[in-house]
Order: sequence, then structure tokens, then C-alpha cells
Amino acid sequence: MNREIDLRSQRKDEHVRHALNQNIDGIDSDFNHVHFVHHSIPSFNMEEVDLSTRIGPLEISQPLYINAMTGGSEWTRTINGKLAEVANATGVPMAVGSMHVALKHPELADSFTIVRSRNPNGLIFANVGADVSLEGAERAIEMIDADALQIHINAPQELIMPEGDRNFNIWRSNIENIVQHVKVPVIVKEVGFGMSRETLQILKDIGVKYADVSGRGGTNFASIENTRRENKDMDYLKNWGLSTAISLLEAESFVDDMSILASGGVRTPLDAMKCLALGAKAVGMSRTMLEKVEYNGVESAIEYIHQFRRQMDKISVMINAKSMEEITRSSIVFSPEILSWQKQRSLHTRGSH
Ligand SMILES: Cc1cc2nc3c(=O)[nH]c(=O)nc-3n(C[C@H](O)[C@H](O)[C@H](O)COP(=O)(O)O)c2cc1C
Repeated sequence: MNREIDLRSQRKDEHVRHALNQNIDGIDSDFNHVHFVHHSIPSFNMEEVDLSTRIGPLEISQPLYINAMTGGSEWTRTINGKLAEVANATGVPMAVGSMHVALKHPELADSFTIVRSRNPNGLIFANVGADVSLEGAERAIEMIDADALQIHINAPQELIMPEGDRNFNIWRSNIENIVQHVKVPVIVKEVGFGMSRETLQILKDIGVKYADVSGRGGTNFASIENTRRENKDMDYLKNWGLSTAISLLEAESFVDDMSILASGGVRTPLDAMKCLALGAKAVGMSRTMLEKVEYNGVESAIEYIHQFRRQMDKISVMINAKSMEEITRSSIVFSPEILSWQKQRSLHTRGSH
């Protein structure tokens, strides 16, 4: 292996290791500041709940997906293989991690293509950064016969990463060019810093139809990259970004023109239901799924998704909303912090009805 491959593979392994070591359990989640109103007399039976959804042309039987993480090293090849088995058994779509390493070094492609071979008929998302060429984006899609392409936008991560990018001015025109030319849906995604209304407006202006707000509250790349810095001197940025709940409020005026997806710190079926109530078409989980397959194995991860899904149905009954559409009309109340953000940002008030 040459030195560059070595460094990239090593970086991916470090990300996985640091992500697994991050303890997010004690963090106050903004999902705790979004409250459903309980309804005591449900009007339907649990088996009537139908949470099937779509991301543009892609039909999904359940509003969940395994979000982008790995590939590019021996260890992450194994992880991708396990995640693909989970996706195959449960029918949830799955994204791979950034494919730049395999675009540069085709000998690493099998750490990504394993996902297609273990899940031949499932929905799979390719993943590239916003600086990739159109030709690179097309090759990434082709490599795993992807049904959609994720483009990650991760400026804070790059800036805190010691060896990260410092050039960003091509991102906007580059994303626009890719969206215009590739044949699959293009999902622009954050990596845990959330998206503002201003960001979403830019994405809308350049023709992006799918955005994953991936907010603060779960995997924290400001902290992960800080840990990789020699002096660990950028710890003060550990709370940078918008939480997933706040990002969804920022996204609220875009839901008619774009499909908004939610990820970042989704820990429970209740968190996921809150994302749906705030307008998300589907909900992604990364770290939780990584932890499941690495610590408990594939079978346990499959069972986890089944239980997660069933519990979402149960909560649907508790809020008396049996479809995705009804969930977006369910009664919700915000804690003062969220309300204050909404007011100061002059966001359209979802409030309770
Ligand atoms: C180990 C690890 C590696 C990741 N690598 C990528 C990546 O290559 N591309 C990307 O778009 N997002 C990447 N992410 C970010 C996730 O897709 C997601 O946006 C973020 O982790 C928030 O979700 P979570 O709180 O459920 O982990 C990675 C996340 C983890 C945990």
C-alpha cells in the first residue's frame, strides 16, 4: 500500500474508533424540547399504521435509513458488509461512507462494492464530498450501482481536521453541476452540524431537491477532529452547529419544494417520530447502527430495526396519526428554548394545533 492510501484508510479507522468512543448518552438532546400531545382515545388499530414514504422516485416501506459512514479500509469493509446485511434483511436504505478514497485508489473499491453484493436489490446511496468532479460522482454511483447520491457538506469538520480542506468556493457551483447531470436523486447532507434556512435556500436555488439536515446532537465531528489535533486546541467548538430539531424548523418552509431528511442524534423511536412530525420524509441513523453491528452483531442489529419500527407504530397510535401525512399534522408543543429560536429567526410557527 502506498502512503496516501495508508493515511486515508487510517483516518477512516480513526473516525470509526473515535465515533464509537463518543458517549452521547448524557447530552441534552433538543428532541427533549419537542413534545407530542397525548391523545387518550385512538381512532384506529395499530395494524392500520402505514409509515411507507418516498424520497422522490424512491419508495421506502419504512421511514428509516442507515446513514453514511464507512469504507476505504479493511476494517470498514467488514463493517460495510455487516450493515449491508442488516439493510438487506430489513429493507431500509443504506448509504456508504465517502467514496473519494476508492475513486483515487480503485484497489479499495471492494470495501464499498461489498454493500451491493450483500444487498443486491436494496436501495443504496453513494457518498462523495462537495469538491468531487462530475466524472467522479458518476463513477461513484456506477461503482455500487447506487439508487441515489449523497454529497456531504462538512466545512467545520474539514477546518478542525489537521489535514483538512481549506478551499470551499467551488462547492456551490460544483453541487449545481452534479445535480444537473447525474441520473439519480442527489441528496445534499450535513455530517452533524445541521442546516440553516440560508443554507437550504442556496440548495434550493441551485436545484437541489433532497437535503439531509444531519444536525448536532449525535456524532460530533468537531470533537472527533479535535481529538486528532496535536494540541487538541479547538475543543471550544464542540457545540457548534444547529441541532436536528432546530434544523427541521429552519427547513419548514422548504418542505413543499424539497424532500427533507433528518439525521443526527436520533436515539429512540420517539426522536424519529418527532423528526417526521417536523416534516422529515425519513430518518437516518449512523452511530447507533455502527455500535449495534460492531458490539452486538448483525442479528441483533436486524432485531433492533424491527423493534424500532414497531415502536414507531405504537407511538403513531399514541398521537392518533396513522400515516406520514397525519404525523405532520399532529399536535406538538415546544419548550421555551426552541420557541425563542423560532421567534428570533422569524421562522414560520409550527406550534400546536
Ligand atoms: C464513523 C462515522 C463516519 C462517517 N463518515 C461519513 C462520510 O464518509 N460521509 C458522510 O456524509 N457522513 C459521514 N458520517 C456522518 C453521518 O452520516 C451522520 O451525518 C452523522 O454521524 C450524524 O448521525 P448520527 O448522530 O446518527 O451518527 C460519518 C459518521 C460516523 C459515525
